[in-house]
Amino acid sequence: MNQELMTLDFWQDTVIYEGKAFPIGTLACDALNVPADTIAKMNEHCEKINLLLGLLNAGQDIVIVDNLYNSSPKVIDRIERITGKRPVFVEADCCDRAAMDRLFSDYDITGVIHFAGLKAVGESVEKPLLYYRNNLDSTLTVLEVMREHNCHQFVFSSSATVYGDQPAPLYETAQTGGCSNPYGWTKFMIEEILKGACRADLALSVVLLRYFNPIGAHESGLIGENPNGIPNNLMPYITQVAIGRRERLTVFGDDYDTPDGTGVRDYIHVVDLAEGHLCAIRYAQAHTGCEVFNLGTGRGVSVLEMVHTFSEVNNVPVPYVIGPRRAGDLATVYADPAKAKQILGWEAKKTLADMCRDSWRWQTRNPSGY
Ligand code: UFG
Repeated sequence: MNQELMTLDFWQDTVIYEGKAFPIGTLACDALNVPADTIAKMNEHCEKINLLLGLLNAGQDIVIVDNLYNSSPKVIDRIERITGKRPVFVEADCCDRAAMDRLFSDYDITGVIHFAGLKAVGESVEKPLLYYRNNLDSTLTVLEVMREHNCHQFVFSSSATVYGDQPAPLYETAQTGGCSNPYGWTKFMIEEILKGACRADLALSVVLLRYFNPIGAHESGLIGENPNGIPNNLMPYITQVAIGRRERLTVFGDDYDTPDGTGVRDYIHVVDLAEGHLCAIRYAQAHTGCEVFNLGTGRGVSVLEMVHTFSEVNNVPVPYVIGPRRAGDLATVYADPAKAKQILGWEAKKTLADMCRDSWRWQTRNPSGY
């Protein structure tokens, strides 16, 4: 990106680019066609794939790096089907320093969106060293290689889990730490590493995105979440029950201090989340230092509200039983998303019904995954 051509002021209503004014937010993101390569690194969730669709649609050149530990190369074909463009794909591990060095030598990379991490809370309790090694090492390796190759923009997938057990709504200014599992601690530690890196290197620009509960799928039904084994998370469990792969959902506790006694979370559609990343990378291109944003809707939804909404909008039963609480679960977690709206011009647009419809479309069109 030729920064001299562009005036970006996210406190104003518009973005001026090459003499033209664009309204701030996703429209501005789409309008700014950035010719340089942006590297997006994906290992875990379909929100990344939806982000890639957004980047491709916004005219970005992207290089996808994935070790295929928990993902399928067929995703690349599907991205091409949706966007008409085939992104460059490099199979490599982000902890592999030589591979990262080659990558940055082969491509003129101007910014990194780093998602390459392990994310299963329960597994992290059983295999903490694996989580600390993989999540920290991949981040440190990429940061070191970026510095050697003069690349300064870094967007990181963090998580609401860094807030620990605090009353909702959660503001970015709330204290972090007090995590209940090693996965959460890796997110907290990486945030601290990135803050320190920005203090030491004034050219560096980091955006920390604290995701709340991403669900949903691309509306085409071509790209969605395909967890290995028994799903840990609520939405993939619901879709597998609805399609008959599992007998019934167990609702983990109905004795929380919430309106219906079940856990309340801030579910966000993966496509909204992807657009948040587009805005974040643009922000990183125009600023230095470290900034943090919640990506959530600001609305809490209970487990039973989710089950009933899913059943109603898709006209399919979801049998469930009430079980005991799951260890480590909190009663209520939702974001205050005002900062992202004010500074990035981003806000979630999709409804809970959209999330339920799109998750179900993905599941019914791909009953056994990719
Ligand atoms: N739940 C059930 N039954 C299930 C699965 C989940 O009742 O089979 C309930 C949980 O108890 C919770 C809600 O559904 O109340 C959401 O649970 P998820 O497992 O889908 O999501 P969590 O909020 O536990 O965790 C998510 C991510 C984590 C992240 C965390 C941040 O999975 O990676 O949000 O708050 F750390």
